[in-house]
Amino acid sequence: MIFGVSAGWTLEERFLSRFKRIVAVEPDPVARAALRVRFPRLNFEMISREDLLPWLSASPEVFSGFLAQYPKAAVLFSNVLGQIRLLQKTAFCEEAEARRRFFLALGGREWASYHDLLSSTHEVKSHESTKFKGVFQLEELANRFFPAQTGHKQDVVVIDHDTSWLLKDREWRSLVWRLRPRQTHLIACVSQQVGQS
Ligand SMILES: C[S@@+](CC[C@H](N)C(=O)[O-])C[C@H]1O[C@@H](n2cnc3c(N)ncnc32)[C@H](O)[C@@H]1O
Repeated sequence: MIFGVSAGWTLEERFLSRFKRIVAVEPDPVARAALRVRFPRLNFEMISREDLLPWLSASPEVFSGFLAQYPKAAVLFSNVLGQIRLLQKTAFCEEAEARRRFFLALGGREWASYHDLLSSTHEVKSHESTKFKGVFQLEELANRFFPAQTGHKQDVVVIDHDTSWLLKDREWRSLVWRLRPRQTHLIACVSQQVGQS
């Protein structure tokens, strides 16, 4: 199951073809059509709902109830959890409650996420993918990846995407994604294997 798959721009057929069936949660109809065009041999079950994630659902059981329909599915959050603030038009519940529902529903299941941790107008210092454990001071990470550059005339903005809670007590890997000049994202990749809490 993939949340926010779009047309699978960040995914490879070699990886996706390991799965007999893929539940693709993607509200954007153009992205869903493009996904089928890009991967015509794969078996997608398309879900267009945008009220499934705990932050976006009016009722507390929506996310867990949806997952329960696919008891054996592993879940991938494909660059979507760092966008929640942009997607959330109504605050259905407290942030802490949404996070509690998220972890509760995913308990005992394999899941992974890659998501925005920080983004910046600054050029990144290193494109190296690095392993980390647990939550870091975001200021420390910002200084490490987007250090102030002498002679830089414009203000440097570093945005915290409020996703560091996903990294607590977990190993994670950083990736750098340069979307365009003056917009670079520091992506965190994290996973839970069965047997981990
Ligand atoms: C930043 S894009 C990531 C796209 C792609 N996975 C990638 O890595 O390039 C976020 C995706 O989440 C989708 N999305 C928006 N609202 C959503 C929701 N409520 N549930 C699931 N996906 C959603 C968007 O349509 C978009 O395709």
